[in-house]
Amino acid sequence: KLLTVAIVGATGAVGTKMKEQLLKRNFPIKDIKFLASAKSAGKEIEFGGKMYKIEEATPEAFEGVDVALFSAGGSVSAKLAPEAVKRGAVVIDNTSHFRMDPDVPLVVPEVNREDLKKHNGIIANPNCSTIQMVVALQPIRQKLGLKRIIVSTYQAVSGSGMSAIEELREQSKYWDDRKDIEAKVLPVKSETKHYPIAYNVLPQIDVFTENGFTKEEMKMINETKKIMHLPNLHVAATCVRVPVVNGHSESVYIEVEKEASVQDIYNILKGAPGVVLQDDLNNQVYPMPLYTEGEDPVYVGRIRKDLYHPNGFHLWVVADNLLKGAALNSIQIAEAMLEDNLL
Ligand code: A2P
Repeated sequence: KLLTVAIVGATGAVGTKMKEQLLKRNFPIKDIKFLASAKSAGKEIEFGGKMYKIEEATPEAFEGVDVALFSAGGSVSAKLAPEAVKRGAVVIDNTSHFRMDPDVPLVVPEVNREDLKKHNGIIANPNCSTIQMVVALQPIRQKLGLKRIIVSTYQAVSGSGMSAIEELREQSKYWDDRKDIEAKVLPVKSETKHYPIAYNVLPQIDVFTENGFTKEEMKMINETKKIMHLPNLHVAATCVRVPVVNGHSESVYIEVEKEASVQDIYNILKGAPGVVLQDDLNNQVYPMPLYTEGEDPVYVGRIRKDLYHPNGFHLWVVADNLLKGAALNSIQIAEAMLEDNLL
């Protein structure tokens, strides 16, 4: 079966990767539409050796579309996803807008593929940091149970889009006067204050909520519980932006229900879907974002048993946030739906 696909936000950091993934994975495409803002309409975009005209994302643009992949910001999804569904498309939305809606499945195929069956036209792709964490933790949870997660993230600028990548590139030139760097985009474009990301780390991703956690941190907390179907799981997150172009890293502390050894965790993660173990201390082998860029899997290393809690473990988890954290997971959702006759 061949499908008509639309990419909304086709010129963006994630949209560009969606385009690449569709080709790389040989997604069965009949026709494809590249949608963006009015400012990009009319510009040309290359796909599989052919040139396509970018169109403005309007309700009418979804006429005849089977699958619409959205990554143009929450307000665009809020407005246009229902319009696409009205015209018969299935929407796979990479923004946070619909994620916690009880009528919208929030899916990482390795973890909760079954939830796709309950869709009403819109499927949400989870937050990038959440995706890589649940891929690593689901196999452990299945064997040992899971009671608590405490995670600190080291997130790349690509998660904030093209303008943040450009900001890091530009600021990185200012070695001598780095305290005077002018910042415009990070930590959050709409915020009052901006701070340099080059030569710095920013303990704020997205805006603050009433409880002192940021929205990004609350996404990790709430989305993890929804995806894993563990409403009582205790999760805490501290999300930090670091001067890395692409690839999110996470220090993850977990408490499982059954006592286990580090070897047990190795055995569980070896060959687990979507996971690659990189953990060999004698040879200084551990995952790093510079080397996971462009790769599909979620890499896990530095696995240690906590020194005090018999059921506590520490892990280091790294993945390409634009791929498994966004574009790849979206395409995998579409592939799973095709296989399960949901498209
Ligand atoms: P455009 O390039 O025309 O502004 P990123 O996350 O890298 O910043 O990319 C955001 C993507 O969302 C871009 O493709 C951008 O298109 C698109 N976009 C932004 N605002 C709108 C809008 N109002 N309608 C449709 N697409 C939009």
